[in-house]
Amino acid sequence: MTKQVYNFGAGPAMLPVPVMQQIQEEFLDFQGMGISLIEISHRSKEFEAVINRCDELVREVANLPENYKILYTHGGAQMQFSAVPLNLLNLKPGNKAVYSIGGHWTKLAENEAQRYGETIIVGDSSNTNFDRVPALSSDLIPQDASYAYITSNNTIYGTRYQSLPDTGDVPLVIDATSEIFSRVIDFSRVGIIFAGLQKNLGPSGTALVIVREDLIGHALKITPSLMDYSTYEKSHSLANTNNTFAIYTMGLVLKWLQNQGGVSVIEEINEKKAATLYSVIDDSNFYTGTAHKDHRSTMNVTFTLPNEERTETFLKQALENGLYALKGHRNVGGLRASIYNAMPLAGCEKLAEFMKEFERTQG
Ligand SMILES: Cc1ncc(COP(=O)(O)O)c(C=O)c1O
Repeated sequence: MTKQVYNFGAGPAMLPVPVMQQIQEEFLDFQGMGISLIEISHRSKEFEAVINRCDELVREVANLPENYKILYTHGGAQMQFSAVPLNLLNLKPGNKAVYSIGGHWTKLAENEAQRYGETIIVGDSSNTNFDRVPALSSDLIPQDASYAYITSNNTIYGTRYQSLPDTGDVPLVIDATSEIFSRVIDFSRVGIIFAGLQKNLGPSGTALVIVREDLIGHALKITPSLMDYSTYEKSHSLANTNNTFAIYTMGLVLKWLQNQGGVSVIEEINEKKAATLYSVIDDSNFYTGTAHKDHRSTMNVTFTLPNEERTETFLKQALENGLYALKGHRNVGGLRASIYNAMPLAGCEKLAEFMKEFERTQG
């Protein structure tokens, strides 16, 4: 099936077509049971096989070291803004945590942590409207901090950390919602990495949380049990009825990713996709990239046009040409092309051609 519409929405975002076809094919009759996956118990042997396979795929795709636990948590990515401080602040006396504020989502996470302890802001790029990520390194981090927190890819501003910061012995916590499994990282350098599923993994409302095992079991007394990582670990994320459809879909997405050649192959494709769009922006006096060149994301490409009127015309014509959801976030304005793992190179090429043609006729 060829896709008629390319979906550049920031999230919930497009999923790979073969994944959705498989869901459609087996929706009414899961593995010959005569009923749907969403109708069977989260404690059934059939669902147990689904979640076990999803665990295996996360391990394989991430090349995850043994001492990391895989949790599927409720409340999307934002619930982790509370769960992280509730679970980790207690690691060291003083209940302190370091935040490097590279955008809106990190600021929200830091606000949430303030409810439970002291936050130390070691970098903040708000004065340049988050067109870059603040530097973070071990010499900036007090060694009595319980953890150091970043958002590795800033969905709204189209920026990312080009490499993982070195936080020394202080556990690094990463919100990777808008880039998980889009590039190879060394998980052994991570304390916790989490992602809402709705961009690179599946439907919204659930998060994948990967936690180094020694960081589990330190939750503050006030932590609701359904936010305590040890509850998830002990119950294989089934303390209550989890979102079985989300976990099933994530398994299919990860299998698809593996079939593409895994993260290293998708990373190369992602770089090519992003370069296709950035080169149009860089070769033009009409489009202006909003992210600093050294901090650009390969997942969210943000740019502006000379004025509001042209922006509106661009969006209208793009939609008529099957290029959906390119409006930028209100904090940045302009346009944003979200090109997660599921976006094929052809979608970026089509957008690049459209951009060139629009500049030629409207520039
Ligand atoms: C980096 C990042 N963190 C957190 C969130 C919030 O996710 P959720 O709506 O699942 O809470 C988003 C949503 O776009 C995001 O891009």
